[in-house]
Amino acid sequence: MKLKPLLASLCLSVPLMMTSMSTAAVEKITLKLAHNLDQEHVVHKALDQMAKEIQEESGGKMRVRIYPNGQMGGPRETIEMMQNGALDMTKGSASEMEPFASAFSVFSLPYLFKDDAHFKRVLYGPVGQELMKQTDSKGFVAIAAYVAGTRSFYAKKPINSPADMKGMKIRVVSTPTTNKIIELLGASPALIPFGEVYTALQQGVIDGAENNEPSYYQTRHVEVAKFYTEDQHTSVPDYLVIASKVWNGMSDEQRAIITKAARNSEVYQQKLWDEEVTNSRNKAQELGATFITVDKTPFREALSPLYDDFRKDASVAEWMTKIEGEANK
Ligand code: GCU
Repeated sequence: MKLKPLLASLCLSVPLMMTSMSTAAVEKITLKLAHNLDQEHVVHKALDQMAKEIQEESGGKMRVRIYPNGQMGGPRETIEMMQNGALDMTKGSASEMEPFASAFSVFSLPYLFKDDAHFKRVLYGPVGQELMKQTDSKGFVAIAAYVAGTRSFYAKKPINSPADMKGMKIRVVSTPTTNKIIELLGASPALIPFGEVYTALQQGVIDGAENNEPSYYQTRHVEVAKFYTEDQHTSVPDYLVIASKVWNGMSDEQRAIITKAARNSEVYQQKLWDEEVTNSRNKAQELGATFITVDKTPFREALSPLYDDFRKDASVAEWMTKIEGEANK
């Protein structure tokens, strides 16, 4: 007579046992994370801190192994590897995310942000959160955003105004928007991976490039392009992304551990950034760099046609309007 309840409890316990067993089996995971920045870069430091936190919070069951310095290739390659299941996580700048989700092109719009506070309000507020969801259907999920200051031009000869850029060959993270920036300034854009810019500058394949101060110094581009013009044309953040397959295959608990550690890494990275800019500037000067203060007006004017292009394209116009709406909050 007791068979029925016994059977019922057996039926119940078997799937339960199986679930807990399979959870235990997948609980121990090592996530592979590759990026193209130097180990001294504050994004690397923030990722390193995140990896430690994940390991601690999971009681050693979750680990993140970081492959820095482009040893697995540039973002183009690592994003593809992630989509193919060969890598779990990587870092891409907004420009590098643009081929997957056009919304990210908005960060290449010159002089879009009024100041640093406006930029951070966008990046870490509702607009930024919505932007981060744009890759979900592309096979990867954005889980952290990192500030990257402003990008400026640097070259072998001084650039004091757009007129000086006429005929120059400038390396960019090539996208339709960044290419147009260079063309509007009278120069021509060159598609060269981050890790090959030093040699390209040294051999005279290009005349200049553009980046923030930490990347200018840490890549040693300063040795081969001594003039850094502070035109600050764009503010392009970096994103930490994880393969959707990996993310969706995790338990809620595992996802919560990663989400919290990723959030903490954002805070830590922001704390380090400003100091890193000052430090890189000083170090670059010690190596002979000249920082040139310029009137941004001629750059702003030359680049203003990009705003008309964005207004004409509904898919990006809405993001531009959303960001502009955050300017005076
Ligand atoms: C910056 C940015 C990187 C990007 C690089 C580049 O350093 O942080 O994410 O890859 O610029 O210009 O390629």
